[in-house]
Amino acid sequence: MIKQNIEEEINNQIQEEFQSAYAYLAMSAWFEENNLGGFASWLKAQWQEEIEHGMKFYNHLIQRDAQPILQDIDKPKVQFDSPLEAFEFALEQEQHITKRINKMYNLAQEEDDYPLKNLLLWFIDEQVEEEEMVQDVIDKLKLVGEDGSGLYLLDREMGERQGQNGKEAEQSEDQK
Ligand SMILES: [Fe+2]
Ligand SMILES: [Fe+2]
Repeated sequence: MIKQNIEEEINNQIQEEFQSAYAYLAMSAWFEENNLGGFASWLKAQWQEEIEHGMKFYNHLIQRDAQPILQDIDKPKVQFDSPLEAFEFALEQEQHITKRINKMYNLAQEEDDYPLKNLLLWFIDEQVEEEEMVQDVIDKLKLVGEDGSGLYLLDREMGERQGQNGKEAEQSEDQK
């Protein structure tokens, strides 16, 4: 049996993950419009990941015999001044999610909800990875600055990330 306050928090988190997905898709559209297709496809892979995150919480409720109650998704930010501004926005968003996950973990601990604690451990690791990944792009964008050919090369590099296996591909790349 799942406690009411925990159920509410999970429902809120489903909304947060889908809201993140929507934000990444809107960013992807902006990059597409600005002829940076590599960034656009990287962000689309991120969109897919956020949907999967939402579904992990959704399935957790179903497994525990609770009904997921889907909430409104707000209109995301659709205009950005630059690629750097877009990724700084993405980092803020990830930091916000990290805070929420940590807060949920505290709640799960207080309420002795072991299954949720276990699920959240996966998310705690995932948030470290996500923040690192976005920060890495920010660092590269700062390095490139106003240099158009640098941005062109970075866009190509970003385009190498493959769909849902993006992270795995990235990791095996690192091991070479
Ligand atoms: Fe997420
Ligand atoms: Fe995320």
